[in-house]
Amino acid sequence: MNEVLIDPEKLPAHVAIIMDGNGRWAEREGVSRIKGHTAGMEAMKEIVRKASHMGIRYLTVYAFSTENWKRTMEEVSGIFKLLVQFVKLDLSELDEENVKVCVLGDYSVIPDAAKKSLDKTLKTTENNTGMQFNVAINYGSRAEIVRGVNKIAEQIRSGEIEGDVTEEMISRSLYTGDENGNIPDPDLIIRTSGEERLSNFLLWQAAYSEFEFTDLLWPDFTPEAFEQLILDYTTRDRRFGGRK
Ligand code: IPE
Ligand code: IPE
Ligand code: MG
Repeated sequence: MNEVLIDPEKLPAHVAIIMDGNGRWAEREGVSRIKGHTAGMEAMKEIVRKASHMGIRYLTVYAFSTENWKRTMEEVSGIFKLLVQFVKLDLSELDEENVKVCVLGDYSVIPDAAKKSLDKTLKTTENNTGMQFNVAINYGSRAEIVRGVNKIAEQIRSGEIEGDVTEEMISRSLYTGDENGNIPDPDLIIRTSGEERLSNFLLWQAAYSEFEFTDLLWPDFTPEAFEQLILDYTTRDRRFGGRK
């Protein structure tokens, strides 16, 4: 394949991905849903590497939503086991790539082994200065906003905040705020598998995001497909409510 030339000035600073379609991929291949998630994990590794090599500053992936607990115990525990495996096998590569890993969401409630490996990853990579890789785990945007608003309410009660609540205060109270280095809003949100909805992902942060949808199922998504979507993004005319 020819090399794709992308103007580095136009590269999105923050790309967020809704990795969807593992189940349908498994069905198509005639294998278990867990095998679909395993293939999805492999696809994710390649995209992380590609994004880091392209010079993207922030990559966020939606790995497990607050609503995904509705699935069977077998599927949920399988997903978390995969997460532990990924972290164990790939921690050294992420670290060598100077990638800093962060978690968006309340991961205190996930199985202990998964929580421990995540804590280790966060600690090992905390001072890395390359791409910031945010994994949304037990993440839901409405729960995130409620949590942020409650934090602000507490600060008002204790007298730490005086006067009106501002947009900046709300942004800083979210998982993407102070606790993870104030991540800029996503420039581009990608969703695979042909679905075109946010499914409770980054509702506040997506105010002016561009969207790219692809029919590819997540395990079929490749670094080349990713690069093409980024290239398409660079041709967009972003106006933020202003005029051309
Ligand atoms: C996305 O794939 C991964 C998670 C939600 C954890 P799905 O498992 O939602 O795949 P489909 O939508 O059933 O094909
Ligand atoms: C969104 O996908 C969540 C993740 C990719 C982790 P879902 O498959 O859970 O979303 P819906 O149910 O189709 O909206
Ligand atoms: Mg799905």
